[in-house]
Amino acid sequence: MTIAITGASGHLGKATLRFLMQQITPGNIIAVVRDADKMKDVSGIQVRVADYDDAASLRAAFAGVEKLLQISSASYGAHATQQEKNVVEAARAAGVQHIVYTSSVNLAEQPIFHGAQTNVQTEKAIRDGGFAYTFLRDSMYMETIPLFIGAAMENGQIYYPAGNGRVSFVARTDIAEALANVLAAPKGHVNAVYDITGSHAYSFQDIAALLQNIKGLPAAYTDIPAGAFREELIKLEMPPVAVDFYLSMAESVKEGEFEHVDGALEHLLGRKPLRLEDYMKAV
Ligand SMILES: NC(=O)c1ccc[n+]([C@@H]2O[C@H](COP(=O)([O-])OP(=O)(O)OC[C@H]3O[C@@H](n4cnc5c(N)ncnc54)[C@H](OP(=O)(O)O)[C@@H]3O)[C@@H](O)[C@H]2O)c1
Repeated sequence: MTIAITGASGHLGKATLRFLMQQITPGNIIAVVRDADKMKDVSGIQVRVADYDDAASLRAAFAGVEKLLQISSASYGAHATQQEKNVVEAARAAGVQHIVYTSSVNLAEQPIFHGAQTNVQTEKAIRDGGFAYTFLRDSMYMETIPLFIGAAMENGQIYYPAGNGRVSFVARTDIAEALANVLAAPKGHVNAVYDITGSHAYSFQDIAALLQNIKGLPAAYTDIPAGAFREELIKLEMPPVAVDFYLSMAESVKEGEFEHVDGALEHLLGRKPLRLEDYMKAV
């Protein structure tokens, strides 16, 4: 069984690769990356260079691949959707049989979150492409909390326009281990769809309380207007498509798109997932 992983130089891809190497002969694993130098710290695997924007490079990288872990694009909006389409089309042209794809939790037909909108289209392209498929619909990574609450990890003050919306935060390392288990299962998980979440959903008020209890910070959550958040993102000199992406993320949290809690991850891991409290103690 030859298994390829896109985005293998990224956080999720490399962590999955390391778990998979414990279960599959490393020589049968292909890391598909745009910069081979980033894989120098992993030995024994195959490394192929391809870019999501270059269809021919993707087709060449997928030659002889039976199972593909398609990690969702790190781009925004229509560009992300096109990149993911390129991956699916190249996989079909190369004869890939099974795609394992990282999608968004509790996927609605018309989600608010722009990333989830891309996921809807890619899931459809994979199903329509006649592949065996496995979708791991991930909630938000715990590891991104320090990024989007900014200085709050130091001063406890969270400013975010998410109302009382809750998020079933999940450890990216747990997702990686679950992905490796799915990839290594010889016949399993064909045409399965899993919501991959932590065991509890937390509001940003809850996160402030955790910062207070665990870090001893004088913490508070302020639900700021979306317009003020937009101004902050513009000040960071983000391109408009990224500003819209992050605004859509906050709105989707507010509307409950990330609050679903599911037991699939515990089942795939054979143990309890990491709790947000334990993650917060460690960072
Ligand atoms: N659920 C969540 O909370 C959450 C949070 C963040 C991201 N995500 C999604 O989950 C994915 C994996 O997360 P992550 O933390 O591993 O992200 P990451 O560390 O940013 O990794 C992204 C990967 O995509 C690769 N990539 C970017 N542009 C590419 C291109 N044009 N062609 C080929 N490869 C390209 C990167 O390659 P380089 O190493 O060369 O840059 C890297 O390997 C992200 O891409 C995003 O779709 C989900």
